[in-house]
Amino acid sequence: MDLGLTNQVALVAAASQGIGYACALKLAEAGAIISMCARNPERLETAASTIRERTGATVWSLPVDVTQPDQIEAWIQQTVDRFNQINILVTNAGGPPATPFMATGDGQWQKGVDLTLMSVIRLIRGVIPHFQRVGGGQIVNITSVSVYQPIPRLLMSNVIRPAVHGLTKSLADEYAAENIRINNVCPGYTLTERVQELVADKCKSEGVSEAEALAMFTSAIPMRRMAQPAEIANAVLFYASTLSSYVTGTSLLVDGGFVKANL
Ligand SMILES: NC(=O)c1ccc[n+]([C@@H]2O[C@H](COP(=O)([O-])OP(=O)(O)OC[C@H]3O[C@@H](n4cnc5c(N)ncnc54)[C@H](OP(=O)(O)O)[C@@H]3O)[C@@H](O)[C@H]2O)c1
Repeated sequence: MDLGLTNQVALVAAASQGIGYACALKLAEAGAIISMCARNPERLETAASTIRERTGATVWSLPVDVTQPDQIEAWIQQTVDRFNQINILVTNAGGPPATPFMATGDGQWQKGVDLTLMSVIRLIRGVIPHFQRVGGGQIVNITSVSVYQPIPRLLMSNVIRPAVHGLTKSLADEYAAENIRINNVCPGYTLTERVQELVADKCKSEGVSEAEALAMFTSAIPMRRMAQPAEIANAVLFYASTLSSYVTGTSLLVDGGFVKANL
């Protein structure tokens, strides 16, 4: 099946491991050219060369911290210099830290906003002129189930991520006529390095073993397991491809039934 992704240039943020990596791999398998970033240069280049070896795709990487506007600009410009165009943007970043409300100062809130919201705004603002130049493009934001159902201890995620969904609805409306689509993928618990940290955090805070902490997470999931990163990437592939050509301004939960609300 032709997904319309052959030689499409995909910018995938925060892609050296976890969900971002799975998205870059999935898009590369579907024929896209990948420009990926993360902060740690060694881990990033290892991830990029693994994708190259596994898919034969053109994969380029640049160390970028998505909280730094000048680094985002440089990444976008260097991608266009190298590949002439950008057709797909997958926004992603590390998750904001788990902090109790009264111990979270203004500086930490600002850092959370820079990481989780401003990075998305800046990436989108950077690619839109390039999308307009080639007659359209696809944006997929990785957000979270926390948009619909607050996750205990993940205060900043619960508060800041809904703003990304507000941004999505606004921009979907504003840019639909220019063939620019924007949608969100909302993962539930997914077995990545990030989740190992959350499990360790729970062990500490609740004084339980790793197996007990894991069971606490999955007991709230009707499918009784966490997602594999590739299962999140499948939803990203749908939104990035022509399979979703009439879909914009929407959000897809990939959560094993975790969110119970009648949305
Ligand atoms: N896993 C889950 O269960 C789950 C569920 C819902 C939502 N999410 C959200 O999905 C996103 C990805 O989660 P994950 O589990 O895949 O995380 P992860 O395994 O910790 O991977 C995070 C990736 O982002 C990169 N990164 C982190 N901060 C960055 C920055 N400032 N600039 C550029 N790259 C950065 C990391 O590389 P460097 O450290 O080298 O930069 C790494 O490649 C997070 O926002 C998370 O909150 C995850």
